[in-house]
Amino acid sequence: MRLDKFLVECGLGSRKEVKEIISNGEITVNGEVTIINKQNIDEASDEIRFQDEILTYKKYRYYIMNKKAGYITATEDFKERTVMELLPDWVIKKDLAPVGRLDKDTEGLLLFTNDGKLNHKLLSPKSHVDKTYYVEVENDLRTEDLISLENGVTIDDYFTMPAQAKKIEDKKLLLTIREGKFHQVKKMLEAVGNKVLYLKRISFGKLKLNNLELGEVKEVSLEDIV
Ligand code: URA
Repeated sequence: MRLDKFLVECGLGSRKEVKEIISNGEITVNGEVTIINKQNIDEASDEIRFQDEILTYKKYRYYIMNKKAGYITATEDFKERTVMELLPDWVIKKDLAPVGRLDKDTEGLLLFTNDGKLNHKLLSPKSHVDKTYYVEVENDLRTEDLISLENGVTIDDYFTMPAQAKKIEDKKLLLTIREGKFHQVKKMLEAVGNKVLYLKRISFGKLKLNNLELGEVKEVSLEDIV
């Protein structure tokens, strides 16, 4: 792989920026300074350093975010602010996309990756990834509502798959669903005569939000996801 491409993919900067870094003599390849940006390197075996830091190439990158409300889940939009704007500078944005979608007013765990195959696999209707939501609702939750949510309700002519509904307080519950229909949680609560006032995703498969602050982003590994 070309040295400049490698540096871009390590997140050191844009192609223009890394060319400058190289021509300033700030990069060493196996201990030797190089100023040739077209130099070919072997990303698996060569040791590339920038300011004494060894750079490691990751073909696929995975990050989780505790999404804030007010941002839409999209890579770009003409009108609305997108979740991409919440990604800090250190995140390598090249080919990065969110996995699935949280509504504009929903908070919580959102995964991002440049691994298109994994993205597709996790979203496939066959994959049934468990997603747990913390939900606050308008009206007190009745036992029969919880039973209906667990057994399935009809939303837009579709009968939802078995779910888990755990009441925390009269107007608060944890809902775990294994599919991801459009506005599914809100529609499921509507189907039992209630209304979602606050929604936060707290887990997605093996991934947990834990103590990630609102708006914070963390890099994770493939093993954390599958
Ligand atoms: N279900 C919803 O209704 N909204 C979300 O953002 C996620 C799940």
